[in-house]
Amino acid sequence: MIVLDGKIASQSVKDSLKIQVAEIHAKGKRAPHLAVIIVGNNGASETYVASKVKNCAEIGFTSTLVRLENTIDENILLQKIDALNNDDGIDGILVQLPLPKQINEQKIIESIDPAKDVDGFHPISAGKLVQGLPTFIPATPYGIMLMLEHFNISTKGKHAVVIGRSNIVGRPMSILLSSNSKYGNCTVTICHSQTPNLKEICLQGDIIVAALGKPEFVKADMVKDGAVVIDVGITRVEDATAKKGFRIKGDVAYNEVAAKASAITPVPGGVGLMTIAGLLKNTLQAYRNRMLDVE
Ligand code: GUN
Repeated sequence: MIVLDGKIASQSVKDSLKIQVAEIHAKGKRAPHLAVIIVGNNGASETYVASKVKNCAEIGFTSTLVRLENTIDENILLQKIDALNNDDGIDGILVQLPLPKQINEQKIIESIDPAKDVDGFHPISAGKLVQGLPTFIPATPYGIMLMLEHFNISTKGKHAVVIGRSNIVGRPMSILLSSNSKYGNCTVTICHSQTPNLKEICLQGDIIVAALGKPEFVKADMVKDGAVVIDVGITRVEDATAKKGFRIKGDVAYNEVAAKASAITPVPGGVGLMTIAGLLKNTLQAYRNRMLDVE
């Protein structure tokens, strides 16, 4: 059994990006610049955003963190995005989700200039992904593809079972795994909350991607011997014995499933780190696309 270590795979992506940024600097050009917007102070969002900013600095990107109050009017956020859309010095814009309930998330996603949509959530980006056109791939599915590539996990002809149909992970993941590409060419089944025979379908999976957000949902009796198991879950579960008062749990019961799997991602230290790698790659791509437009 191999542990698909996100630390190793993401470091390899970041090392390559660092070299590319150094080359950009050597030519006397400015660094790629990511703008991250956080609304309110959701604990998990704070952690993700801090990690995104830190990773930008590590590889030589510039980042700007925009903090807005939890109670702000939707228009304030739209104005901020408009300003960033029109700022030539900004290459990528990311609005951390979820947003407070007075704000229409879809409206916000659609207000981001598709050329700066490094999250890949805009319908234009999603539509391009479906049609196999070059675009920004949502960071988590992108990161998982980079993970498969790093560990050279063979996917061709395999049955991949994706649990979860979100626009952020499940749906784009199913498209990537079924695409005609080196780490695609899977036969894909998407399962969701209305799937009656989920256990039987999971048992057929050569590759399982668990992205439903239910701690330890995937148990050993749902997994075929030798399956590759990708755990996208990162839920905070209260635990008074933990220093922070909570523990991070994945969607997979790690110990029992690891005993059957041929490869598995740990939580933490797996897919979460790859999400950042995917985001950083998208940001460099946005920069390159835009610099070509500008030059
Ligand atoms: N919230 C959870 N995952 C994500 C993500 O990939 N991007 C953004 N913007 N918000 C998220």
